[in-house]
Parts: sequence; C-alpha cells; structure tokens
Amino acid sequence: MRIISLLNQKGGVGKTTTTVNLGAALALEGKRVVVVDLDPQANLSVHLGIEVASGEPSAYRMLLGEVSFADCVVATETPGLQCLPTDLDLSGAELELSNQFGRETLLRDALAAWREASLKETGEEPADFVLLDCPPSLGLLSVNALAASDEVFICVQTEFFALRGLTKLMEVVRLVQRRLHPELSISGVIPCLYDNRLKLAREVLAELKNHLGEQVFPRTIGVNVKLAEAPSYGQTIFQYAPESTGARDYRLLAQEVLARTSATETVAEPEQTPEPEVEIPRPSASKTPAKPVAGAAEADVEVAVPEPEAS
Ligand SMILES: Nc1ncnc2c1ncn2[C@@H]1O[C@H](COP(=O)(O)OP(=O)(O)OP(=O)(O)O)[C@@H](O)[C@H]1O
Ligand SMILES: [Mg+2]
Repeated sequence: MRIISLLNQKGGVGKTTTTVNLGAALALEGKRVVVVDLDPQANLSVHLGIEVASGEPSAYRMLLGEVSFADCVVATETPGLQCLPTDLDLSGAELELSNQFGRETLLRDALAAWREASLKETGEEPADFVLLDCPPSLGLLSVNALAASDEVFICVQTEFFALRGLTKLMEVVRLVQRRLHPELSISGVIPCLYDNRLKLAREVLAELKNHLGEQVFPRTIGVNVKLAEAPSYGQTIFQYAPESTGARDYRLLAQEVLARTSATETVAEPEQTPEPEVEIPRPSASKTPAKPVAGAAEADVEVAVPEPEAS
C-alpha cells in the first residue's frame, strides 16, 4: 500500500484536483484507492459530491479518535475509488488537536489500525493507494499527513510565484523525516496548471527540472477548463469529460505513478546537498533571474514538529 501526501502550503496550485483525478485514474487502472480530505475547506469531499453532516464520521472525528479510519471511508461513483471526507469541523482541529498526546501521529495511528485489521481479517492490504489531500499550510494537519505517508508529491503551479516557499516546504519534510519518519521521501513533483504557450511557464518548468531533476514528473497537467468545471458537478474528470485533455493528462500521470513503483528518492540533508536556491525567471525580458524573496511567503508557515526529547 502506497500512502502519498499531496503537499504545497501555497493555495490553489492543484492539490485537490490532482488528488481526485489521479485517484480516479489509478482506480480506473484497477487499483483500490482511498482519497483522504485533510483540508477544512472540504474541497475534495465537495469535488466528489460527498457531504458530511456535522457529527457524522469524518476526518475530524477520526483524528480525535472517536471513530476509526474504516468507519469514515465511503464509496464514490467511481468503482475502486473510496473517499474519507471531512466537514467544516476540521477547521477547529488544529487548535483542539494541539493538546492531544501524540498529536503529530494521530493519522498514522489510525491508518496503522485500519491496515492491521484488514491484514488480520482478510490477509490483504486494505487499499493499493491512499492519497492525502493536504490543506494550504504546513501546520498540524499537514504534519499528520507527512508522518503517516511514505511519499510526498508536491504540486506546483508553473507561474512566477510557484517556487517561493519551496525551500521552506523541503525543510519541513526534512524535519518530519528526521524526527518522526525517516522513510519519508519526496518521490514526485507534479507541474500543474501548465500552459505550454507561455514562455514563463516553460522557463519555470525548466528551472524546476534543473533543481529537482528526476523528481519532476515528465507528465505535466495542462490548464483545462473541464478540470475546473468538474467539481461543481461533484464529478471526476473521467465522469465529466473523459475525452478532455485534462482526463488524458491525469491518465498518463497515473501510468507514470504506477511505473515509479516505490519511493526511490530521499530528501538530502542540507550538508550533503545545498538548499535548492530556486531561481525564478522574471516575467519581464530581463536576463537577470530573480532570487526567491525570502521571508514574506514563509512568515506565516507554522511548523508543528516536536523538538527532540531531552535525553
Ligand atoms: N489543470 C487545471 N486546469 C484548469 N483549472 C484547474 C486545473 N487544476 C486546478 N484547477 C482549478 O484551480 C483551482 C485550484 O485548484 P485546487 O483546488 O485543486 O488547488 P489546491 O492546491 O487544492 O487549492 P487549496 O490550497 O486552496 O486547497 C480550482 O478552481 C480548480 O478547479
Ligand atoms: Mg485543495
């Protein structure tokens, strides 16, 4: 079972769209997939047409330990694709959970119990893929996702501000790797909302590949209005517009994900590899590449990783 966090503290870069449609594409390839909504905005749940009434099993109550992971999982209209939805209650979770013992590993514990029960009852893993849709922050919910997953896919939008904050994101992944989960690795970077006609998009993509190399999936997800329309019908792209370029892109991405059968890359320690000083091409004709503006984009980042215990 591959557990993958779809991560970026920047909002609107395609995390939820990718979780839903990559999940659906993997299910259409015959895999058993569970997509998990860890964002209090509940966009993933809405995208799949699932509404959770307050008090019903949801990601929030699962993290509080009131219900099990299995209790919360619901079927979707796509065979093989299940969803663990959330509701707006999750917006209070970071605050409430912050006092819980083992607060960074609540999701990991819930997933482990689910897996153990399945192995005991059926001798099988409960799913082939679990995709965790993270909120646009690096707070406790994202740290829970990272501690629970073996792999991270970073969704990036190929535009001017795309690479700001990437250094901070890498730092948090390393921190979780060091203190909570040594096997965690960034196994994929997915360029989303890519517009091949724009010189800037091509330059940002080249810059990404330059710094992150093979971690960047060769398959980009192009801008496609059908992908933006599908959520309002509560449908995946394969239900809403199966012939669209969006459907094609996610189908091909799923094949690449399947080809990368296991996590191969680990996040290098800063001593071994210098921080990726990601250079962002300016939108103007200027030949001088801009350095990322330090601070502003990262000032609001909360990192909820515990300090190592005093020995
Ligand atoms: N390839 C695409 N082409 C066109 N529109 C897209 C594409 N991918 C995403 N969108 C649209 O862009 C918006 C942001 O996408 P999405 O919600 O997936 O981003 P996100 O990273 O999950 O955002 P947030 O951080 O707020 O959760 C949505 O309205 C979505 O429908
Ligand atoms: Mg989202």
